[in-house]
Amino acid sequence: MVVNLKTLLIVQILLFVVMVPAANGFHRDGVAQCGSCHVMHNQEGGVVMLPGGSPQLLNDASASGVCLSCHGEQFGAVLGIDPLVPPPEFGGGKFVFLFEDNINDGPAGADNPIGGYASGHSIIEPSVGLSEDPVNMRAPGGTFRSNKLSCASCHDPHGNQNFQMLYGVGHIKSSNYNFNYPAPIAQSIDIASRRSETQDNHTAYISGMSEWCANCHGFYHDLVGRESLEHEFNLTFEESQISRYNSYSGIQNPDGGDPATSYIVEVPFEDASATINKTSGPTSTSRVMCLTCHRAHGSSSVAAGRWDFRVTSLDYDGVESGSYPIPSPYNGPNEPPLCSKCHSTVPSAPATQE
Ligand code: HEC
Ligand code: HEC
Ligand code: HEC
Ligand code: HEC
Ligand code: HEC
Ligand code: HEC
Repeated sequence: MVVNLKTLLIVQILLFVVMVPAANGFHRDGVAQCGSCHVMHNQEGGVVMLPGGSPQLLNDASASGVCLSCHGEQFGAVLGIDPLVPPPEFGGGKFVFLFEDNINDGPAGADNPIGGYASGHSIIEPSVGLSEDPVNMRAPGGTFRSNKLSCASCHDPHGNQNFQMLYGVGHIKSSNYNFNYPAPIAQSIDIASRRSETQDNHTAYISGMSEWCANCHGFYHDLVGRESLEHEFNLTFEESQISRYNSYSGIQNPDGGDPATSYIVEVPFEDASATINKTSGPTSTSRVMCLTCHRAHGSSSVAAGRWDFRVTSLDYDGVESGSYPIPSPYNGPNEPPLCSKCHSTVPSAPATQE
């Protein structure tokens, strides 16, 4: 075992030296320098280990630590320190809300706290105080185990050509788990540019996101018995939602929007023609997908909502819980939850979380 890994390491380093062109981005063109993420441990016979990790080669707990040493507060800053002052957004959302003691902004939320664990994916990294989700033992709708969840559950630490180095079809060794669907097709804003997300600088979602999430969740809201929100996955926009999305410019101006500028990053959709700076609304080829309503990492809403899923008006976001209020895309008061971007009458609000 040890010998095999050592041989593997040497072979990989040799390949690395031969194949990797001059650096133009840390991960972008293949595996980055091994030493940025691994140490050699001679007493263990040259086994490649993660720095600060246990001698276990495949220690998920320390896999996230490796990534957070660079990405925690810089290069996209997916974590941050203070859940009331999240770092600038680049699309994926933030893990900092896992530190919150209450994110429940529903009625009487102050007296019925929901801990930060419900703010999104509870990645495990004890060194910064992040532990396994106490409620969901597995991915809701699927079988992926919560005690295995790390950055390297979704992103390939050794880099690949996919959108955000997400895993495609295949076996994830460290979690002993198979992905059946390929990585989504999308284009990210460049975190190296330090230009964070705006209405004309945002992830361009092209196709396949719902399928990709289904690698772990199945088609969650389609599942029988999930009456809280029976949104089929990959809904095609009907004429009524197209015109609603395009004309809606906040509850104070529900019919005054301009199709050329109606896009909001708070309610994105997939389309083959999506680009990072596109500002126009949906057409008949556009589709609703998981990240229309969720952030991939987390937010200060339950279930990583792109807006707070518990409030009746965005004005109440943060009021009951004292958590970070997600900025509203519209200026006026009494803005309802952003289901209103596509529905003039919201068909049955989502039920409460268990
Ligand atoms: C030594 C610092 C360092 C470590 C460790 C590191 N990254 Fe990065 N990463 C960067 C930098 C710098 C960028 C900025 C873009 C670039 O230079 O390619 C980046 C970019 C990214 C991107 C955006 C895609 C891209 O190519 O721009 C993702 C996703 C990412 N890293 C994930 C991870 C994950 C997951 C881990 C842990 C397995 C990790 N990184 C570990 C430095 C690091
Ligand atoms: C950006 C950080 C990063 C870089 C750079 C990196 N690794 Fe890794 N490597 C990891 C992480 C994290 C894991 C654990 C994966 C997991 O837990 O899912 C790992 C696992 C491994 C493993 C065991 C599992 C496997 O995939 O075979 C080997 C062997 C390995 N790395 C070798 C290398 C070599 C050789 C290089 C340089 C060519 C390298 N790594 C570069 C982060 C990195
Ligand atoms: C590698 C497997 C994996 C993938 C891929 C994945 N998830 Fe998850 N997800 C999990 C696990 C495990 C949990 C349960 C642990 C937790 O709640 O943090 C979870 C929990 C969630 C939750 C509930 C969070 C909470 O605490 O209430 C939401 C919402 C969610 N995922 C949405 C998504 C979306 C949207 C995608 C696609 C962008 C996605 N997931 C992709 C594994 C995954
Ligand atoms: C459940 C899957 C999942 C997990 C776990 C996860 N990511 Fe991501 N990550 C994504 C997806 C999907 C995107 C693209 C989001 C978008 O643009 O909508 C992304 C985007 C990113 C980006 C680009 C910047 C941004 O905010 O969009 C970086 C950097 C990154 N992830 C690093 C990490 C690190 C570091 C960890 C662990 C601390 C991690 N990710 C854990 C799925 C995941
Ligand atoms: C139209 C908006 C919308 C879309 C699209 C959507 N969701 Fe949700 N999702 C929600 C809302 C709202 C909740 C909260 C329901 C509640 O509070 O019970 C939720 C809850 C969840 C949860 C449960 C969290 C928990 O801990 O119980 C998971 C997992 C989840 N969604 C995954 C997905 C996946 C995977 C997709 C894509 C296949 C998806 N969602 C698409 C709005 C959406
Ligand atoms: C990006 C646009 C969009 C957003 C945002 C959105 N929906 Fe939908 N919704 C659709 C589309 C498209 C359909 C399918 C077309 C249809 O059945 O009329 C649909 C259908 C539905 C349906 C079933 C059909 C019906 O009319 O009874 C319900 C229920 C529903 N949505 C609830 C919600 C809730 C609750 C939210 C907010 C959590 C939400 N939707 C957010 C686009 C959206």
